[in-house]
Amino acid sequence: MLVFVPPHPLIKHWVSVLRNEQTPCAIFKSAMAELGRLLIYEASRDWLPTITGEIETPVAVASVEFIDPREPVLVVPILRAGLALAELASSVLPATKTYHLGLCRDEETLRPSIYLNNLPDKIPEGSRVLVVDPMLATGGTIVAAIDLLIERGVTSKQIKVVSAVAAPPALQKLNNKFPGLHVYTGIIDPEVNEKGFIIPGLGDAGDRSFA
Ligand code: PRP
Repeated sequence: MLVFVPPHPLIKHWVSVLRNEQTPCAIFKSAMAELGRLLIYEASRDWLPTITGEIETPVAVASVEFIDPREPVLVVPILRAGLALAELASSVLPATKTYHLGLCRDEETLRPSIYLNNLPDKIPEGSRVLVVDPMLATGGTIVAAIDLLIERGVTSKQIKVVSAVAAPPALQKLNNKFPGLHVYTGIIDPEVNEKGFIIPGLGDAGDRSFA
């Protein structure tokens, strides 16, 4: 598995805005969307199929290259907080299809349960899949989400995960289970506490986005 923390000052900036407990809900949500836009841009580098051809500009013929609209990236936001991080995905990527997954952690056991699954029964062969969830804490949620994709014919090499903050327990689980996976995250934090919060983290991203 490969984990990328793109060394861009704008990424550091938006992570810092998200970390600040004084950041109000509306700003938190737009900072999350902006961070998502930058991370999705980084994750899509060298990943998107293109088509070439020629078009006429107002003055001459030019060779051109477009993103192939026949092969959309499947964007899978994990509700709730993934909605904010994926908000600008379709602005960054010219061709997308979005399938929502709703997963919620039990506050006591920290185990995830699935309350919404919009994935098709079979995912077209060779699809590129972007799973978007701001927090990779114990890793239970992201592993459950990827398991649902793998049941539908996707391999881990076809999947990229975009998150705002990732912690070692989640990265360890992902590495053990899905060696071909690529993870793009704003930052890696050192630990997860007994309540399942990433430390120092940014609190409960779902509540802070939608409170
Ligand atoms: C949070 C977060 C992740 C998950 C990470 O979601 O947004 O989806 O927990 O935790 P894990 O790695 O330990 O599984 P939550 O269950 O709080 O739902 P929400 O997005 O609706 O707030």
